[in-house]
Amino acid sequence: MTIPAKEMSEVRSADFEARFVEDRRRVEERLAVLLAPQSEEPRSLHGAMRYSTLDGGKRLRAILCMAAHSLCGDPHRESALDAGCAIECLHAYTLIHDDLPMIDNDDFRRGKPSCHKRYGEQVALMAGDALQALAFEILAGCGAPAPSVAEAVRILSRAAGSRFLVGGQVADIEAGGAKSTEELVRFIHSRKTGELIAASLSIGAAVAGADDGMRLRMHEIGRAVGFAFQIVDDILDVEGSMEKVGKTLRKDDKEGKITYPAHFGIESSREAVSRLIAAATSGIRELGDDGYLQSIFASIAGRSS
Ligand code: IPE
Ligand code: IPE
Ligand code: MG
Ligand code: MG
Ligand code: MG
Repeated sequence: MTIPAKEMSEVRSADFEARFVEDRRRVEERLAVLLAPQSEEPRSLHGAMRYSTLDGGKRLRAILCMAAHSLCGDPHRESALDAGCAIECLHAYTLIHDDLPMIDNDDFRRGKPSCHKRYGEQVALMAGDALQALAFEILAGCGAPAPSVAEAVRILSRAAGSRFLVGGQVADIEAGGAKSTEELVRFIHSRKTGELIAASLSIGAAVAGADDGMRLRMHEIGRAVGFAFQIVDDILDVEGSMEKVGKTLRKDDKEGKITYPAHFGIESSREAVSRLIAAATSGIRELGDDGYLQSIFASIAGRSS
């Protein structure tokens, strides 16, 4: 299933295409090794974990982590790869749970039936739980120096917890059908999506042993990118195609979801994405990016144009 990757590559600058493709290949290959084999009991659980983690997904978070690490001197290349894979496992868990009938009730993900459609709700719930645990096992064992690993674990656990990702998901659920305000849109988007993308960059920096200043600047840049990413996801729900995006669209409005386009309209949403990506681009350029991260940021904005 290569649709999401193709979708990103259509808008990424040709110069960095080969690097992106290679990073993505390394992530796919490594995830296939890090996940328990399908033949291991309970087969349903390990099958579900592999089904929802491998063979699909843009791998944006892993690649941001590896690119941030590379910007910080690339001292522990294989550790950054494992850190990126850990983030992808955590992200895959959030998608499985997000699609469950009790949350967004979505039947398709990454161009195929969602995990609970294929494996049933009980196994899907548990596969999500196990992927979250696996994420921390991989990160803890990524092989970077102990203080860097501890910092990376701290960043990921904070981003994944009640103050950020899970809190954002709960706010998203509880706000269904509620009156939208700018503050509420920001609250939900920055938490359910923004923080894990910010963490992807700052974990890359942490694994490289970057100082606090560098890590925090990366994180702030990542917050802008993450907010833009969710606005783009909202825009695609309104005007994207299932063929490209690989999931059921036109649902946010029906479900009364709090989204940026519902609150501000499509044009303002596109402008907000451009503003956020422009700010992130100049920030990362100041940190010495060779253009790779800038081209990834541009490809995020390009998905919705
Ligand atoms: C989907 O994330 C969930 C959101 C945070 C909007 P992605 O669009 O990154 O999903 P994959 O990993 O490419 O499938
Ligand atoms: C999901 O947001 C964010 C997380 C999974 C944490 P959405 O519900 O908008 O994501 P999609 O559209 O289902 O991918
Ligand atoms: Mg959701
Ligand atoms: Mg959803
Ligand atoms: Mg969405």
